[in-house]
Amino acid sequence: MSFKKILFPALAAGVLITATGTAFAGEEAIEYRKSVMKAVGGHMKSISLIVKGQAGDMKDVAAHASAMAGLAQATSTAFPEGSSMMDGKTEAKMDVWEKPEEFKKVTMAFIEHANQLAEAAKSGDKGAIGAALGGLGKNACKACHDNFREKS
Ligand code: HEC
Repeated sequence: MSFKKILFPALAAGVLITATGTAFAGEEAIEYRKSVMKAVGGHMKSISLIVKGQAGDMKDVAAHASAMAGLAQATSTAFPEGSSMMDGKTEAKMDVWEKPEEFKKVTMAFIEHANQLAEAAKSGDKGAIGAALGGLGKNACKACHDNFREKS
């Protein structure tokens, strides 16, 4: 097969993906968001168990924390239009889309605090990790859930 025959369909597909890239909505978009949040919850719990000395190993905190920092970035694309309770079963409140400025602020706080945790984790200092974890829980998880997640 010639190079051209391989390259051109790939380019055409690439254009298609770019064109529809922001159009995700509905059940799958909700499922994706819940999956991201479950992973976030898993890393939060794992770090907390390690720092309390109840399980795991300090050497793995950095891996959990850097995954968390990546997932905080992913959160900013996990609430597309068309993924609200009008579109499927979700605990996300309508305020996510009705108060976009406030929602963006707390998403930015999530990214910031998750990055701080990742930095602290690299240092291996338990005190610093614990403090960063507390800041993340209060200013990101709780701040967002209190305002933008339906109590279940
Ligand atoms: C920017 C807002 C926001 C931030 C920050 C946030 N969450 Fe969430 N979280 C939500 C929303 C909204 C839902 C409900 C998602 C749905 O039902 O579609 C949720 C759901 C969850 C769930 C349930 C997932 C499921 O469906 O099983 C867990 C666990 C969770 N969050 C943990 C966390 C933890 C831990 C943090 C902090 C490290 C965090 N979240 C930070 C908004 C946020």
